[in-house]
Amino acid sequence: MYRITAKEVLAPVTKLFKVYAPEVARKAKAGQFVIVRVDEKGERIPLTIADYDRESGELTIVFQEVGKTTKQLGKMNVGDELASLTGPLGRPTEIENYGTVICVGGGVGIAPIYPIARDLRAAGNTVISIIGARNKELLFWEEKMRSVSDELIVCTDDGSYARKALVTEPLKEVLESGRKIDIVWAIGPAIMMKFCSLTTKPFGVKTIVSLNSIMVDGTGMCGACRVEVGGKTRFVCVDGPEFDGHEVDWNLLLERQRIYLEQEKRALEKFEREHQQACPCEEVG
Ligand code: FAD
Ligand code: FES
Ligand code: MG
Repeated sequence: MYRITAKEVLAPVTKLFKVYAPEVARKAKAGQFVIVRVDEKGERIPLTIADYDRESGELTIVFQEVGKTTKQLGKMNVGDELASLTGPLGRPTEIENYGTVICVGGGVGIAPIYPIARDLRAAGNTVISIIGARNKELLFWEEKMRSVSDELIVCTDDGSYARKALVTEPLKEVLESGRKIDIVWAIGPAIMMKFCSLTTKPFGVKTIVSLNSIMVDGTGMCGACRVEVGGKTRFVCVDGPEFDGHEVDWNLLLERQRIYLEQEKRALEKFEREHQQACPCEEVG
């Protein structure tokens, strides 16, 4: 069983857990993810390894409560145990000394970009980071990102904190400034990664994205996570999750992410109904 050893509320719908999983923490690398099940009957959901501590055996995961399972996970507390945690899965980020890199993290994507920025800097790169969220409340890890970046640009969509801009705006400005940028990483919602890729394409700067397709087994057997990259079918769980953003068929990914919207809505309604009946506490009103 995988015990939750720390819980932090980073934003109203964004939570951080540390989970005791020594076997996974020992092998984890930036860019990889785990698949967790909240309880024995629960569905399997992929979450990126935002950090790890090989000595204490703890993994850090950061998740946004968007539906039934992430809301159920958000209700768990320190001392509770996850029914299962499988990983590390996926191919690690290719950390090399590229020169000057830009790391873009949008929303909950700030968590997975952190270990990548950290390791790229440790490999000798100059790291320019750009982080953004819809508003101030949803922004987190500003100082953590500053500590692993040579430069940090912070923005919010609504201007409630720092610069009012979408992350693509400072991204374009840095590219236009004439500085030599060798490679870009962009992690966040699919639509953000799509537009970051469209922004960098005219400049010919390679852009790596971490795709968030629907997953079930996470081992290349079910086919749920298939995407099209460079005209070829690839499985995000074993061939990725990182791919060249200029080669991704974004419309297909966005379409496939919405396949089960109706079932997801029903599952969330059922969960909220049951939870309200089972525990009429302050939290649920
Ligand atoms: P639902 O209402 O069931 O789904 C909401 C939306 O999430 C769906 O419309 C669909 O697009 C997506 N989704 C649903 N089920 C899955 C599934 N089994 N696999 C993937 N996507 C699904 N989210 C984070 O908040 N933090 C992370 O670090 C993180 N890392 C991820 C890493 C990878 C490799 C992938 C593929 C996804 C990652 N996600 C992450 C997304 C996260 O898995 C989904 O938000 C979660 O599964 C939603 O589950 P739900 O039941 O709460 O919501
Ligand atoms: Fe099943 Fe990738 S999640 S093949
Ligand atoms: Mg779900």
